[in-house]
Amino acid sequence: MRLDKLLANMGFGTRKDVKKLIKQKAVTVDEVVVKDVGLQVDPEKQAVVIFGERVTYEPMLYLLMNKPAGVISATEDNYDQTVIDLLEPYHRHFEPFPVGRLDKDTEGFLLITNDGQLTHNLLSPKKHVPKVYYAKIAGEVKPEHIEMFQQGIIIDDGYQTKPAKLTILNSGVESEIELEISEGKFHQVKRMFKAIDTEVTYLKRLSMGPLQLGDDLALGEYRELTEEEVLQLKDR
Ligand code: URA
Repeated sequence: MRLDKLLANMGFGTRKDVKKLIKQKAVTVDEVVVKDVGLQVDPEKQAVVIFGERVTYEPMLYLLMNKPAGVISATEDNYDQTVIDLLEPYHRHFEPFPVGRLDKDTEGFLLITNDGQLTHNLLSPKKHVPKVYYAKIAGEVKPEHIEMFQQGIIIDDGYQTKPAKLTILNSGVESEIELEISEGKFHQVKRMFKAIDTEVTYLKRLSMGPLQLGDDLALGEYRELTEEEVLQLKDR
């Protein structure tokens, strides 16, 4: 594998950043200072050292899936198909797992990775990573609910939700909304609408942190994140 790709994969920044490290003569392979960013290396057989520290090769994988309804956000299940079952064998090899959970009937933005540190950071309640959902609601969502969601509402177990940004796209017997929340309690969006005597009939996650689903992925499709996207996630 090319050295710049290897180091970028391992979290040493973009290929441009890696080029800088090499210019600084910070990288050796088998004790020889590297001059060529495109050097082919075998990380399992050769000793790659940066600033005097041996780097161990743990290939990282970062995928974005447009999760379809009917599959569960888990690595394995006895009854249902999981999001991991939807991956190509090549990607399954990396032993990735979904970052957090979407309900079985929820669609949309789902990160899948084998990077435990990033997963921990994205899910940590302390980090307040914003997530935006689109939902269809049975019942009328009214302007007064915007303020209520902003203040935080009490859901079924007595928990008061953190401030959430509600945007009403359509209001009537059936309503359409977007909701930004920065926490991830079990069934949170559904429980928030239940608390205002309405019901979520369709739910799709549109974004998480700095990344959006976009419209290039059909349901069940996925793609690898770009180096830039991975850095944006890590920068949070
Ligand atoms: N909130 C829910 O109720 N369900 C999801 O899948 C995600 C957020």
